[in-house]
Amino acid sequence: DEGVLLKGRRLLVTSGPTHEPIDPVRYIANRSSGKQGHAIAAAAAAAGAEVVLISGPVDVPDPRGVTLVRVESAQDMLAAVEEHLPVDAAVFAAAVADWRVATASGQKIKKDGEGAPALALVENPDILSAVAHHRTLRPRLVVGFAAETENVVPNAKAKRLRKGCDWIVANDVSPATGIMGGDVNTVHLVTGEGVEDWPSASKAEVARKLVARIAGALAGGGE
Ligand code: C5P
Repeated sequence: DEGVLLKGRRLLVTSGPTHEPIDPVRYIANRSSGKQGHAIAAAAAAAGAEVVLISGPVDVPDPRGVTLVRVESAQDMLAAVEEHLPVDAAVFAAAVADWRVATASGQKIKKDGEGAPALALVENPDILSAVAHHRTLRPRLVVGFAAETENVVPNAKAKRLRKGCDWIVANDVSPATGIMGGDVNTVHLVTGEGVEDWPSASKAEVARKLVARIAGALAGGGE
């Protein structure tokens, strides 16, 4: 029975882009739709898990049966994630902005006739890496995503080690694939054991399959 696979388990999922403010009316963002992350949260809830979905600004409908926490920026997302630990497993599907504007302006930046303003950027915290390296509250299973446009699997393998996560779900987000914003995904699951190339499937189907694998890993006591 699919509805009991994750009964009694707590799962955290991040989804969507982050918005990094420039001033009160402008921000830096990316093309993440939140479709894959939201589908994973929905599938985990359907499998009986208690799910916290921490989402950046998206247009996709709220999944049923999850606790939804809306955030804007990477810093807000990190704080919300830390607030909701401990969990049994965490899936980081959000496309977190790598950089934010060092000091967002409190007022709308005006054209002053002296040319374009220079935006100084600073690096955002890496949420996945912070949770995977957490000294006391590391979930038993930490799953990251890797959106790449080239060398998808080699980059994902390196990323798994660098980030300290257990699995990486890697996909090719080159515009020609139509994956970003689309309903279909073609992923490679990179684990400590090796790489599985999954057939192209709907994001809902990829989510169900990933949730079943997570349930198996949690039941097996390892990953
Ligand atoms: O380094 P890169 O952004 O490619 O890594 C992608 C993975 O790391 C995704 O799982 C993403 O959710 C996570 N990530 C994060 N915080 C960041 C950057 C990426 O959690 N600041």
